Amino acid sequence: MTTPAPRKILVTSALPYANGAIHLGHLVEYIQTDIWVRFQKMRGHECHYVCADDTHGTPIMLRADQEGITPEALIARIHGEHLQDFTDFHIDFDNYYSTNSEENRQLSQDIYRRLKQAGLIELRTIEQLYDPQRNMFLPDRYIKGECPKCHAADQYGDGCEVCGTTYAPTELLKPYSAVSGATPVTRESQHHFVKLSQCEDFLKDWIQNGRSGNHSPLQDETRNKIGEWFGSGLKDWDISRDAPYFGFEIPDAPGKYLYVWLDAPVGYMASFKNLCARRGLDFDAYWGKDSTAELCHFIGKDILYFHALFWPATLHYAGYRTPDHIFVHGFLTINGQKMSKSRGTFITARAYLNHLDPEYLRYYFAAKLTGRTEDLDLNFDDFVLRVNSNLIGKYINIASRSAGFITKLFDGQLAATLTNEDDALLVQLQQRAETIAGHFEARKFSEAMRELMELADLANEYVNNHAPWELARQDGRRDRLQQVCTTSINAFYLLTLYLRPVLPALVAKAEQFLNVAPLTWRDATRRLAGHTIKPYQHLASRIEEDKIAAILADNRPAAETKPSPVRHGEAQQATQGESAMIQYDDFAKIDLRVARIIKATTIEGADKLLQLTLDVGEDTPRNVFAGIRSKYQPEELQGRLTVVVANLAPRKMRFGVSEGMVLAAGPGGQELWLIAPDSGAQPGMQIK
Ligand code: 2FM
Ligand code: ZN
Repeated sequence: MTTPAPRKILVTSALPYANGAIHLGHLVEYIQTDIWVRFQKMRGHECHYVCADDTHGTPIMLRADQEGITPEALIARIHGEHLQDFTDFHIDFDNYYSTNSEENRQLSQDIYRRLKQAGLIELRTIEQLYDPQRNMFLPDRYIKGECPKCHAADQYGDGCEVCGTTYAPTELLKPYSAVSGATPVTRESQHHFVKLSQCEDFLKDWIQNGRSGNHSPLQDETRNKIGEWFGSGLKDWDISRDAPYFGFEIPDAPGKYLYVWLDAPVGYMASFKNLCARRGLDFDAYWGKDSTAELCHFIGKDILYFHALFWPATLHYAGYRTPDHIFVHGFLTINGQKMSKSRGTFITARAYLNHLDPEYLRYYFAAKLTGRTEDLDLNFDDFVLRVNSNLIGKYINIASRSAGFITKLFDGQLAATLTNEDDALLVQLQQRAETIAGHFEARKFSEAMRELMELADLANEYVNNHAPWELARQDGRRDRLQQVCTTSINAFYLLTLYLRPVLPALVAKAEQFLNVAPLTWRDATRRLAGHTIKPYQHLASRIEEDKIAAILADNRPAAETKPSPVRHGEAQQATQGESAMIQYDDFAKIDLRVARIIKATTIEGADKLLQLTLDVGEDTPRNVFAGIRSKYQPEELQGRLTVVVANLAPRKMRFGVSEGMVLAAGPGGQELWLIAPDSGAQPGMQIK
């Protein structure tokens, strides 16, 4: 029998945006990709899994500015947090990089040049809303105003969250910039477009037949969806943004930057290029036009358009190979509903990790993933039940019921021979190896878990029928006891192997106990006979129900209310139209006090801030920076009373430390009103 040559597979997950924490919605993708990659590696294939933070764009630029730090400092911090979350969930990237890298700059700018050479770039003058105070063009999500249809106030520029109407930002009534509060003006700017309309024939063929000509890179349901987009003709793609922008400049176009969605997928290549340099891999063997390697992207359904249209067109016309597979998954729902901050179900990776073993979530997701694009529901009752009764009650139980006898009575040694009946059970388990592998390959992890639990049932039934605890009490049954326990340990061994892609840490402990090297799929043909195992150590515990409540309690509504144009569907679900509810206890934590403004001054280099010296009834006055300069002159503030959040943690800003926050109403700019108590209130009085 000849062994087929190992496949070369390059796998990616979507690059998370460096503007927020990793949450359970994200993890649906990273966990499934990681399971698939671990499986491929166990099959002996050369598989590389790369990812990176998606770091460019206006939100990152504005957030850094708000925090008084550089975008580079912000993305470095977030990179650390993201990587820690992923590592703790056992997501084993071969490289976790950043789109703000030299490799990405070179690749992205070069791709732009190649598209230009291919005649696909066109310059057009467009009209866009501009913030005259902040001196920047405004992305749609940074323009707010009144809905032209239902007249709800404070709606975003791309659509109304109250009545669901979508419109152009120019149609908003009473528009204002969510950055400064200023009224936007319309300005012209020259933008660079990719003529996607000219790529239609190529894309239609690619979507049906793929690069090999014999298989579509898409699942049936996503292929149908894309068919609808072709119906109205593809719109050309605006790939430039004006300064100020955090990103890569367009070659030979000063002040123009590549839109984040151009350089983000190129980040897949850049991350791999960086890995190639470190591991001596051949970049062209994976990305060159004639590459025979497989290229697989795992993505959520919200970013299908980018990956199934823009990305293959970009690659093809820039002279690179196109992907073999775009594996699209649905969103995460929690207890049947979309994730919600006010219900506390917008669960961050860290909140989960603070209370529960990450592998329980890996197992649960595996038990529910079908390889299709439907949403995945995390139902907490079902979660606890499946982990406790299947993972612990069925799988772990097999080892814990038999190992003690082998250690105590046989010095850890397994029997050298088994009876036909014992053998029949193990053959049954071994024979499913390829069926289970087929499910993993097809990303039908739920099928794999179902098969596996069926096998665990057979093994438990075997143990029940042969009752080793009874045999241990009977004279002359010692050899039989050793055989029964050996059979049961071998069943545990096989299930451990099949679970390895899903539960890497638990399996590593089980491998130690079984005293075997890291398992590969080939080890499914092996039998542990006459082999010595180590004493059984506790492998995993049941979930206690109060842990779920603790996770939910950790996800208090975030204080952040700034507009954040999230692009990843999961994140979007939580930001739309949610006003987070708090309990009285939460409110009571805020120490609001009356303050008198003793002094107000402008600050050189900060055109939005005033520096206030406040009497809050304490021994020494406080220093507070307030973003109210657009409305107030320092002279008019001196002596006035206002309200301050007195127990806000001091915040280091570029100009000094701010020791509190004064309160004002309105969106900003000229529409800003400092809050003042009724006359008679004294500095230091508490507001309740
Ligand atoms: O939707 C998102 O969160 C994007 N940051 C995904 C980018 S994936 C790839 F194109 F880089
Ligand atoms: Zn409306």
